[in-house]
Amino acid sequence: SYQPYLQSLKELLHVTDAQLTTVSDRMLQDMTYGLQLSRKSKTQMEMLPSFVDSLPDGSERGAFIGLDLGGTNLRVLLLTLSDPVDNGSKPVADIKSESFKVTKDLLEGTSAQLFDFIAEKMASFAHKNGLVGKKLPVGFTFSFPFDQDRINHAILKAWTKAYHIKDGVGDDVVQMLHDAIARQGDLNCEVVAVCNDTVGTLVSGVAEDQNCQIGLIVGTGTNAAYLEKVSNIESVESQGADRWMCVDMEWEYFADTGCLDQFLTEFDKQVDASSPMPGQFIFEKMISGMYMGEIVRSILCKLAKVDNLFAGNISETLATTDAFLSRYVSDITEEAIAEHGKTEVVTKILSSVGVTPSSEDVVIVQLVCEFVSTRAAHLCAAGVSAIARKIKANHPDENDLVITAGVDGSVYAGHPTFDTMLEDKTAQLCSAHGVKVQFIHAKDGSGKGAALIAA
Ligand code: BG6
Ligand code: GLC
Repeated sequence: SYQPYLQSLKELLHVTDAQLTTVSDRMLQDMTYGLQLSRKSKTQMEMLPSFVDSLPDGSERGAFIGLDLGGTNLRVLLLTLSDPVDNGSKPVADIKSESFKVTKDLLEGTSAQLFDFIAEKMASFAHKNGLVGKKLPVGFTFSFPFDQDRINHAILKAWTKAYHIKDGVGDDVVQMLHDAIARQGDLNCEVVAVCNDTVGTLVSGVAEDQNCQIGLIVGTGTNAAYLEKVSNIESVESQGADRWMCVDMEWEYFADTGCLDQFLTEFDKQVDASSPMPGQFIFEKMISGMYMGEIVRSILCKLAKVDNLFAGNISETLATTDAFLSRYVSDITEEAIAEHGKTEVVTKILSSVGVTPSSEDVVIVQLVCEFVSTRAAHLCAAGVSAIARKIKANHPDENDLVITAGVDGSVYAGHPTFDTMLEDKTAQLCSAHGVKVQFIHAKDGSGKGAALIAA
């Protein structure tokens, strides 16, 4: 009985290959515009120069602190690089790290509270690892947009994702961290580099694979960075033809011009309207973990209303914004693909949001999760294919160019089929352009990337 609605839902959430190609074309065009100084009227994508213009080549040695503030966690790590053994070319890397959850009160407090939290966790890490009093250089991955004119100076442009901090925009991130370190008292560190998480992921990808030219995050938020020719970045003075720099695209802003409005369903519009920043981050809202579960929730509510899903009952919890976590989408998909007919996980998740599914309901919920995450992976692939095409355009003489993308984030790492959907669709969208993308999971990589940038 649900079939007609499900069929139309499937069509509604399906982005055809022709449409994905259009998205890729548009992204490619906006990347070019974004690199120009007159960009503002044409694109919302910032294409921020990172001033990371040299990459690890294996010659780095010493001890470095990496700090990594993502959407959900703060990670503090100590990276020690020592001489290679057995005539190898890579240094021996030892990493000690610790993760801390960023709690809700921090997301809604002041910037001083957030930076004090970071400095405190650094200090307790230093105590545990015998680093107190040692002067170590710090590389800081900070997963927000900021303007840079050098590597250790970053003017915060906006708090994004679930961070609703009232102050800090317009201030220097490095200064805020130094101030907190000074307030903390115990530490003797200098922040020598700051980078976006996509840039950190790219750099840590390079340590795994010298061919890595793309850093991609699909987590609470989504964004990408890639290696661009400095001569193509209008805001950076080019001092030689062969210089390269990581550019932080800030692609979460890509569709804020309205260029994807034709794909927006009533559910996307609802999710946007009930989000803290309506009208902004439209691309991110169709892809990332902060919204994936919420899209599924709003579809389930509609199905219950118009098509008797859950016998027409919408529990109070299911009716509540953000009650259906993106993690549920991953877990439900995991069960659906692992063991045919097993429904323990999906039933438990649905009962945790107050509904009791029939066996037919279960299949529908699984399909809704599949439609929503497939669309996310395919839109993401359209973005990656645009980057691959841009890189290819910078290497016109290389036929059949193969590049690597380092990827991380809770959706990429936690969803069981996102990685293959992303990979397959990217391959398809790139096939006519003489370029291939290989994906590697740069697990928790951006903190290591920041430490390597410091190195
Ligand atoms: C982490 C990276 O693993 O993934 C962070 O090290 C990044 O730098 C994060 O910000 C993104 O995922 P999430 O889900 O925490 O936003
Ligand atoms: C958000 C941030 C962006 C970050 C991304 C992934 O979109 O604005 O800077 O890279 O999330 O964490």
